[in-house]
Amino acid sequence: MSKSIKLAILGLGTVGTGVVNLINDNLDELKRRSGCDIMISMVGTRRQRDDIDPMITQSDDLMAIATSDDVDIVIEVIGGTTFAKDVITAAITHGKHVVTANKALLAEHGNEIFALAEQHKVHVAYEAAVAGGIPIIKVMREALAANKVNWLAGIINGTGNFIMTEMRDKGRPFADVLAEAQALGYAEADPTFDVEGIDAAHKLALLASIAFGIPLQFDKVYCEGIRDITLQDVNYAEELGYRIKHVGFAVRHQSDSGDDNDTANGIELRVHPTLIPEDKLLANVNGVKNAVLVDSHPLGQTLYYGDGAGAGATASAVMADVMDLVRVLCTNEKGHHVPHLAFVPEELSDTPILSAAQMTTGYYLRVHAHDNPGVLADITRILSEAGINIDAILQKPAHKAGQVPVIILTLPVVESQMNSAIAKIEALDTITDKVVRIRLDELA
Ligand code: HSE
Repeated sequence: MSKSIKLAILGLGTVGTGVVNLINDNLDELKRRSGCDIMISMVGTRRQRDDIDPMITQSDDLMAIATSDDVDIVIEVIGGTTFAKDVITAAITHGKHVVTANKALLAEHGNEIFALAEQHKVHVAYEAAVAGGIPIIKVMREALAANKVNWLAGIINGTGNFIMTEMRDKGRPFADVLAEAQALGYAEADPTFDVEGIDAAHKLALLASIAFGIPLQFDKVYCEGIRDITLQDVNYAEELGYRIKHVGFAVRHQSDSGDDNDTANGIELRVHPTLIPEDKLLANVNGVKNAVLVDSHPLGQTLYYGDGAGAGATASAVMADVMDLVRVLCTNEKGHHVPHLAFVPEELSDTPILSAAQMTTGYYLRVHAHDNPGVLADITRILSEAGINIDAILQKPAHKAGQVPVIILTLPVVESQMNSAIAKIEALDTITDKVVRIRLDELA
């Protein structure tokens, strides 16, 4: 490993702790992907924490950490828009790259912060500020860079979506579900940001800027929250074939009139509860999941989906930004900083690829047997002796010449075990045809 990159984490709440845990869990992968040594040199926390590696300096002087010579990248996860702004400003002016999850700060002061970063030739990265673990910032800025975005629609507040889903599915009262979202680390420090739609409006302002190339304009986002949605409305909507979701919309309107006053020219920015037909994908984004649907030319519609809040999801996005910066800091002389195969070539591993016989999936089996007493018992005995767990079984009435189709769903099993069980079943005198098998994989 050529170089060592030192990280400072400001704030050890849900997200900061998630970042520490992620680094502890995945350090080998982080090093193999970057070709660099990565270490947390300092954490900024009001209270000393016993669970932090004693080699890491803990301090409540966050400003000193943000400007320390012992730090290359400052990770700001304290939240808020006052001290966080000061500390990020100080880090930038001291030449530090910054990674932040702070959507409120960027939506309100991002224009100024990004200008300062340009001036000091440092990066301010913010993947974690929008849609939790979904890499939507990278997608919009990089993967869709050749497209013109027409509109986007997103469920971009995990807490709000969790509340709406629990109310609909379990009839739970709003306040109870909100308390659970807080306990799970989904909600903002001030949860009114979640329920009043302000958090979604912050995120929409960021998405709109990178979609349409406009300055951040949080103050122009029309904002309604979920607080007034009742179970009664949820149920009536359901009867009519709709789900109620809290959605942010950024829509570009463009007319050919050439008239600057034409109201058909402009961008609509709004977050509010919306009825969505129940067969649409966004209507089926539930719990803490977020999803962003982007309509762009010439690609068309693409959908991005994943956990929108919580320690692991947000830490994943924070560290994606950190990895981008680490790759720049470590390898800028090579001209490109993301390895072609994502890991540096000398770190590619020789982990073997499993053969088909070693793969593990559940199975759907269709067995055709003579309609004799004991047939089913023979089949289930063979499966049980092979250690195969039956999840469901269905025997249909005899359909031709005394043959009965037996349908079996199994829990995941190693393929070689299933192969030998099937061979035994097919060897039974009572079995009339080859066993039909289709894999059943709940990962998909
Ligand atoms: N409170 C936010 C949410 C956290 O629930 O979506 C992730 O930005």
